[in-house]
Amino acid sequence: MSSEDPGRSAPRTGPGAAVDSTGALPGRAVAADTEQVSAADRASGADALTCHGLRYDFGETRAVDGVDLAVRPGEVFGLLGPNGAGKTTAIRCITTLLPVPVGMVRVFGRDAARERMAVRRLLGYVPQQLSADSGLTGRENVALFARVFDVPRRERAARVAQALAAVNLTVAADRLAKTYSGGMIRRLELAQALVSAPRLLMLDEPTIGLDPIARTSVWERINEVRAATGMTVLVTTHYMDEAEQYCDRVALMHQGRIRALGTPGELREDLRARRARTAGTPAAPGTAFTPASPSPSPSPSSPSLSSLSAAEPTLEDVFRDVAGTGLDEQSGGFRDVRSTRRTAARVG
Ligand SMILES: Nc1ncnc2c1ncn2[C@@H]1O[C@H](COP(=O)(O)OP(=O)(O)OP(=O)(O)O)[C@@H](O)[C@H]1O
Ligand SMILES: [Mg+2]
Repeated sequence: MSSEDPGRSAPRTGPGAAVDSTGALPGRAVAADTEQVSAADRASGADALTCHGLRYDFGETRAVDGVDLAVRPGEVFGLLGPNGAGKTTAIRCITTLLPVPVGMVRVFGRDAARERMAVRRLLGYVPQQLSADSGLTGRENVALFARVFDVPRRERAARVAQALAAVNLTVAADRLAKTYSGGMIRRLELAQALVSAPRLLMLDEPTIGLDPIARTSVWERINEVRAATGMTVLVTTHYMDEAEQYCDRVALMHQGRIRALGTPGELREDLRARRARTAGTPAAPGTAFTPASPSPSPSPSSPSLSSLSAAEPTLEDVFRDVAGTGLDEQSGGFRDVRSTRRTAARVG
């Protein structure tokens, strides 16, 4: 879904319509506020996000088990991992929707446990589950977030219109969200997260269940706003091609822990070098990257080591290597299938 269907659109009415007609570039006014902030972020050298020893338990289940992360200002950072790895739980701790019972989380230096409101003001969040109200129009949905996130009253209509324009939903803004396609819903949720001009945008599976064109469209919108504002992005995805194409660095999470971290190229190169070593072939020079923990032994069903050493690994190979043989048992539980289906059903 690269653009909305004008034929299905209601006429544009409402407080933001006049602002749209100025032809402001998508994201521009959002950018105006944050450009200087982003320059300051970079100059200060502070990380956009720091997690240290973050742990979270649901009763007996340790969902997040000592996560250390540092996300640099302006980067797109991918948090990857199989179903149940703990990605959403970690994100909910960072966004202050869950407490930080053990460890430390800082967003641009602000402590998520002690300065919750300050952290919330720095964040935009697109949750894994539905956050748009189908009974409201696109504009009303975004306006609701503008109020919740404390966008000053006199700026609200303009900021809502700009956020809608940034995700290419101006024409459909006054239609009920229940008439939107899956790709449009996800872009609407993106507008909700962008309306507060966040310095750190957190996206939990922003493209799940979308067709390839809609996926590309969501990423194009994210990258346009990022280019205009310098905002930092933390994203989870199960699509390895997206991680490869759009993420500067990725962390692979499994069973609550970060198992490997680096650029997609570094992770692929590290696996290639390890495979070459195991197969008895000397590794190519210049492979400085080390995984966060030793990789598990190959499963009995793995291809032969000599054939693996010859092949150029993909990010998916790295993912499988990190998750190991536990992957199949870990994924696809009732909760996970239900959650994916619910998400797919609402956006499909
Ligand atoms: N509300 C909850 N109550 C109890 N256990 C939970 C709850 N939410 C998550 N869990 C458990 O915590 C662990 C981590 O789940 P989480 O949703 O963070 O994983 P995830 O990496 O986001 O998975 P997915 O890729 O399926 O979204 C899992 O074992 C899950 O069953
Ligand atoms: Mg999740």
